[in-house]
Amino acid sequence: MKKTVFAAFIAFWSSIGTLVLVGSLSAHAVSEAEGELSTYTLEQVAEHNTLGSCWMVIEGKVYDFTGYIPRHPTPPVVMEGWCGREATEGMRTKGYGRDHSPAAWGLMEDYLIGELE
Ligand code: HEM
Repeated sequence: MKKTVFAAFIAFWSSIGTLVLVGSLSAHAVSEAEGELSTYTLEQVAEHNTLGSCWMVIEGKVYDFTGYIPRHPTPPVVMEGWCGREATEGMRTKGYGRDHSPAAWGLMEDYLIGELE
């Protein structure tokens, strides 16, 4: 009987310990993800206006699409004109009045580097 009580005691406190540990780890992960977002000015974004380094501002967030442009389903020139600029209009209209798909909007997350100051 004593053994069972002892085992239950250990099991209880180790599960509490695990919960506390997992809680602190995920809180840490969240604050790290938030901490990574830098702020940039439009002037800084404007320095990256080529296919060799292409940043854009879309709805207040700053993206580095340099690595994405070769994967975009158009010749690079289509995105090139929006490099270094506020490009919400480009994203919302594709240059001819039609918004990108939700899947395309979802892809952007991988290229997020910060927020506009
Ligand atoms: C901001 C400048 C951009 C312009 C002017 C632009 C323009 C276009 C054009 C003309 C097409 C092909 C025609 C069509 O599908 O209707 C297209 C398709 C596509 N673009 Fe862009 N694009 C831009 C940025 C982006 C970005 C930043 C992403 C994602 C990171 C992206 C992802 C896609 C995808 C996935 C497609 C396939 C169709 C869809 O899902 O909507 N584009 N874009």
